Amino acid sequence: MARIIKNGTVVTAADTVRADVLIENGIVTAIGTTLELIAPHDVEVIDAEGCYVFPGGVDPHTHLDMPFGGTVTADDFETGTIAAAYGGTTTIVDFCLTEKGKPLSSSIQTWHRKAGGKAVIDYGFHLMISEINDQVLAELPDIIAEEGITSFKVFMAYKNVLQADDGILFRILQCAKQHGALVMVHAENGDVIDELIKQALASGHTEPINHALTRPSILEGEATGRAVRLTALADSQLYVVHVTCEEAVLQIAQGRLEGHNIWGETCPQYLLLDISHLELPDFEGAKYVWSPPLRAKEHQEVLWNALRNGQLQTVGSDQCSFNFKGQKELGADDFSKIPNGGPIIEDRFSLLYSEGVEKRRLTLNKFVDVIATRAAKLFGIFPQKGTIAVGSDADIVIFDPSVKRVISVATHHMNVDYNPFEGIAVTGEPISVLSRGEFLIRDRQFVGTKGSGRFLRRQPFGSAN
Ligand code: URP
Ligand code: ZN
Ligand code: ZN
Ligand code: ZN
Repeated sequence: MARIIKNGTVVTAADTVRADVLIENGIVTAIGTTLELIAPHDVEVIDAEGCYVFPGGVDPHTHLDMPFGGTVTADDFETGTIAAAYGGTTTIVDFCLTEKGKPLSSSIQTWHRKAGGKAVIDYGFHLMISEINDQVLAELPDIIAEEGITSFKVFMAYKNVLQADDGILFRILQCAKQHGALVMVHAENGDVIDELIKQALASGHTEPINHALTRPSILEGEATGRAVRLTALADSQLYVVHVTCEEAVLQIAQGRLEGHNIWGETCPQYLLLDISHLELPDFEGAKYVWSPPLRAKEHQEVLWNALRNGQLQTVGSDQCSFNFKGQKELGADDFSKIPNGGPIIEDRFSLLYSEGVEKRRLTLNKFVDVIATRAAKLFGIFPQKGTIAVGSDADIVIFDPSVKRVISVATHHMNVDYNPFEGIAVTGEPISVLSRGEFLIRDRQFVGTKGSGRFLRRQPFGSAN
């Protein structure tokens, strides 16, 4: 059916205009005024008076239905993407975990089975590389060209589990350059962290705060700098995920200043929460265990500035939810066994609007760029996703900037028993959300269909950035 979104203010990464949007067959076909004149006679008119009309959020960093830390994330592709839709996110790129000794293609099939028939928004996959050998290297070009999976994550941390050495990182960077992929890196020095963890546990330091104390920011800065240098040497391209600290921002900025293809992502938790949360009593600190960890408060303004001035370009959620009861509790006697990660997929969009735009740290257009457009460009799905333009998918958020509300586990839609932003007041709310022209959320209620999300075959790196 055709629809016109009328009387709103359309915001893209480039422009802010009072205009109406015509949607036909799931695609934006016109932006302007008096669109009724060119619309089919049975067009449905949706009033967006007083609202912003944003492109649906693109979350480039989610872990749904993922085995990790001896358990499996609490949100799967159904609960996770419904929560995302409520929050204004209409596209995710999720991390497909590969298994040592198995062909990459079998892990990709596993991920298709997890997402297919469940996801309510469109989704792509990154590959999380767990080992590199000649067989894996031989498979990668096909995966880029045939499967449409055009980004790979390499871990410089999680020793003995996922950690790759510098040689592997370098070979992946070379392969990515040759075949058109973007290398994503988790930049922390895993060898030194492993030593610090052993020393802390040997001295009887088992509480959650030790998670942060054994992963100091200097080790994130060091690994980020190393990854930037290796990228420069390979003349390749690098996207540093979940950047938390000044040390890492400086390395990314330096690499960019030298003209290298380096980008950086941060997450709402690093912009808004700090290390003191890990010291909450009764093991509550475990709710705030991410890797890299939350930092001292001073780093937050550095991250906001970096988003504003373009040293960092995107905000991912790093959605990786574990219940406090039964899952985070796995680390009750040993902080190193607390499953890392938290539930953010739903609140990423509104937190960035409220703390970014409302608090005058980001312009409206910059907000759209960091929440949607830039990730779509970097990950090969622009202009299908990430903007409102003629020919783009009609993934649209009708957002009321006048609503005041409080984030809480009592009202969120994620399948998890706490919210790390509990009690935080935000301004603005996605009222209605459309995916390819169909309502997922209408007047704050989910009206979508399980399994309506489609897999996105992404373009090779370099096609739209
Ligand atoms: O703590 C985190 N970030 N958990 C998810 C896995 C990862 O490293 O991205
Ligand atoms: Zn990571
Ligand atoms: Zn250089
Ligand atoms: Zn992650």
